[in-house]
Amino acid sequence: MAGLKAGEDAYGREIYAYWKREKFVFEAVERDDDFIAFSHGPGSYFAEYRRWPRHQRQAIRLARGRVLDIGRGAGRCLPYLKQQGLDGVGIDISPRAIKVCRERGLTESMCVRSWRSGRRWGRSIRSS
Ligand SMILES: C[S@@+](CC[C@H](N)C(=O)[O-])C[C@H]1O[C@@H](n2cnc3c(N)ncnc32)[C@H](O)[C@@H]1O
Repeated sequence: MAGLKAGEDAYGREIYAYWKREKFVFEAVERDDDFIAFSHGPGSYFAEYRRWPRHQRQAIRLARGRVLDIGRGAGRCLPYLKQQGLDGVGIDISPRAIKVCRERGLTESMCVRSWRSGRRWGRSIRSS
């Protein structure tokens, strides 16, 4: 599978462990501007639309046409969009994130080396 190597895939390991209930999992964010905080945790990446923060619910309502979900994560966006009648595919550089998606039955997911490799998908979306 393309994408990150196992030792680089921290996010994928986090959500895979959460999905498999392997152990207690939490998420800390550290940015290069020295911001450090605990996030809502991996459960938020599996949450249904009604549990998303308001700004995320507002943003996704702007989606139109066929959708390319770049950074698919655990796959929460496309199921909501499908309910709204929109079609699309998801790409991610994390092999484990894509594994989580596929195990959840979200098969329109592909692991890519970088978002640029996903342009092929973008083209197929635009042209259809
Ligand atoms: C914070 S998670 C968000 C997941 C999902 N979009 C959501 O809202 O639940 C960010 C995701 O983007 C992926 N990602 C980061 N850089 C990427 C890139 N250059 N191309 C594709 N995916 C990327 C990560 O592997 C991770 O799955």
